[in-house]
Amino acid sequence: MARVVEVPSFALVLLVGSAGSGKSTFARDRFASTEIVSSDHYRGVVRDDETNMEGSADAYELFHLVVDKRLGARRFTVVDATNVRARDRAPLLAKASRHGAPAVAIVLDVDGATCVARNDARGDRPNSRIYVLRQQESLRASLPTLASEGFVAVHVLGASDIAEARVERIGR
Ligand code: CTP
Ligand code: MG
Repeated sequence: MARVVEVPSFALVLLVGSAGSGKSTFARDRFASTEIVSSDHYRGVVRDDETNMEGSADAYELFHLVVDKRLGARRFTVVDATNVRARDRAPLLAKASRHGAPAVAIVLDVDGATCVARNDARGDRPNSRIYVLRQQESLRASLPTLASEGFVAVHVLGASDIAEARVERIGR
């Protein structure tokens, strides 16, 4: 049976998952492109290359500004970033709280070997194993306490649930 993920029609949705877990694919299939705020996208904007980490600080600033502006305008917003560490999630949760937006986490819980294989197949992410495994560790450490960080709901989708999962917006 397809999993149904209910989200308020005004919300901040955090996708949570390591590189290669399928966040961007999941988002692209379910949300309007303007609703998706991607940290990688802003790396591309500032350095012409989404994988260029040298631009991370500038990209981070723009990415957070856009989340803030959208929530301020009561726009449904999906954050496409790994969000595997509490310290990455906390400033986003604070923005949601400040703007009265319910925050929802959608965790793409895909095993490390699958994520590494997908990254290797992309060709433009060499040596992904080390950072994927580190992100997987952060995610494992986060799972038990994620619900207590201020999310109104935490949906954990396993690898077999992700492709079929539907997102339903609730309320108006
Ligand atoms: N992919 C796949 N099968 C899936 C989902 C994704 O083969 N069920 C592939 C995608 O086509 C892509 C790669 O795996 O080539 C990574 O998927 P993506 O959605 O880009 O993953 P992200 O989590 O967004 O990775 P990153 O954090 O690096 O942006
Ligand atoms: Mg992505």
